[in-house]
Amino acid sequence: MNLVFLGPPGAGKGTVAVKVSEELGIPHISTGDLFRKAIKDQSELGKKVKSILDSGELVPDDLTVALVEERLNQGDTGKGFILDGFPRTIPQAEALDTISTLQMAVNFSVADEVLVDRLSGRRVCKNCGATYHVKFAPPRKEGICDSCGGELYTRQDDAPEAIKNRLQVYYRQTQPLIDYYKDKGIKTDIDAAGSPEQVLSATLKALNS
Ligand code: AP5
Ligand code: ZN
Repeated sequence: MNLVFLGPPGAGKGTVAVKVSEELGIPHISTGDLFRKAIKDQSELGKKVKSILDSGELVPDDLTVALVEERLNQGDTGKGFILDGFPRTIPQAEALDTISTLQMAVNFSVADEVLVDRLSGRRVCKNCGATYHVKFAPPRKEGICDSCGGELYTRQDDAPEAIKNRLQVYYRQTQPLIDYYKDKGIKTDIDAAGSPEQVLSATLKALNS
């Protein structure tokens, strides 16, 4: 199943995608994770995009589409894939249509106040990338990853100013994709305000129907 997960920053796309990926045996492809890996590795791409990610602006479409195309050609997408955080603009969606055929675009929605709470309390493992939340999904030991013992950090773009900018960028550039996929007849809405378990079960139900 070829899937796209849409939704504002902090809606919980990544959290659900990890579980759905395990459940369906298809890769979870997050453009944000790919960019953060490039930054960590100090690659050419990483050097180009660091300041863009820190500010919450979008990476240019040509760089992003090339990255996704390369990832989709790695040979593990025979059973399908979950694209999380891509596409984020109409030109990206149009480019994706020339690369692959989607079965569903899942749109996760949550009120802005909840998004700010989720983003400002998020902590990520430096080592394996696992995501926690100080209130909603705390690690067993403060500041330490449950799965690998790595140190947890706060993403630079989870600072208050960057969160504000990311929400503005989302409403201006990404929200129009909801109608884009609605017009294609493949959009499904998920209320992402509930607990992670509730959101996961609503998503699996939608995918199975
Ligand atoms: P990206 O990494 O994609 O960031 P994002 O879209 O802002 O999404 P997030 O990762 O912040 O949120 P999420 O919905 O995955 O939430 P999560 O599950 O972590 O992109 C980062 C940057 O990369 C962009 O700003 C841009 O610069 C660049 N970029 C990426 N893709 C691009 C593209 N296509 N084009 C151009 N540029 C691009 O959950 C958030 C928190 O809430 C966590 O702490 C979690 O534990 C908690 N939580 C999750 N679900 C629940 C729940 N149900 N209840 C309570 N807490 C929950
Ligand atoms: Zn870890």
